[in-house]
Amino acid sequence: MDKKEILLQTEAYVRETLAVGGAGHDWWHVYRVWKNALHIAQTETVDLFVVELAALLHDIADHKFHGGDETIGPKTARAWLEKLNVDESVIAHVTEIIASLSFKGAQVATPMRTREGMVVQDADRLDAIGAIGIARAFAYGGAKGRLLHDPNVQVEMHDSFETYKNSPAPTINHFYEKLLLLKDLMNTATARKIAEGRHVYMEEFLSRFYNEWEGEA
Ligand code: ADP
Ligand code: NI
Repeated sequence: MDKKEILLQTEAYVRETLAVGGAGHDWWHVYRVWKNALHIAQTETVDLFVVELAALLHDIADHKFHGGDETIGPKTARAWLEKLNVDESVIAHVTEIIASLSFKGAQVATPMRTREGMVVQDADRLDAIGAIGIARAFAYGGAKGRLLHDPNVQVEMHDSFETYKNSPAPTINHFYEKLLLLKDLMNTATARKIAEGRHVYMEEFLSRFYNEWEGEA
């Protein structure tokens, strides 16, 4: 099977598997990450086949829906790629990217070894900020039954993935605990530039949010 056919089959597999969206990880998130990754890759010297496969498969199985098993994503991606007889070197690279991708708390390092991984990580992080990022955060908070905002709940800079992922804080806190930090965590110049615009938009959103909270125009 050639690369084009592998990508087409992978797209169809992910589209079908993630058709019903679980709190932000639906097919359309993957679609946007894929497009972001292709855009960022234009200014990078990378293996596009690896970038596209990793972008398409990065959320194929979420630990949040598998009893916290963090190996479920790479495992599911590997099983799929082995079924298509993809080269072991490509499978190893793609699954390594998927395993290293996620944000795990303000003070938890999430290093990425290869340029291909950096492109996909940036692409995923761009989808967590700006207009889409705001929408996703409140969709996630709503699904978890969280408050929009509570002025009495302090922001927390998490130093472990455990406390970060189990935080019951209102959604506005998530802006300070993740979304506003992402601009400075971008690996590539192209993503950093896009992130800057989306960051300004989130700051404007927050400023209006607090004004409206207190009954101001
Ligand atoms: P990633 O794809 O980077 O691993 P997650 O699975 O952590 O992202 O989150 C999916 C979406 O839900 C993201 O847009 C993220 O910002 C948002 N999200 C995650 N945790 C929270 C939270 N505690 N409150 C609000 N939104 C959240
Ligand atoms: Ni994602």
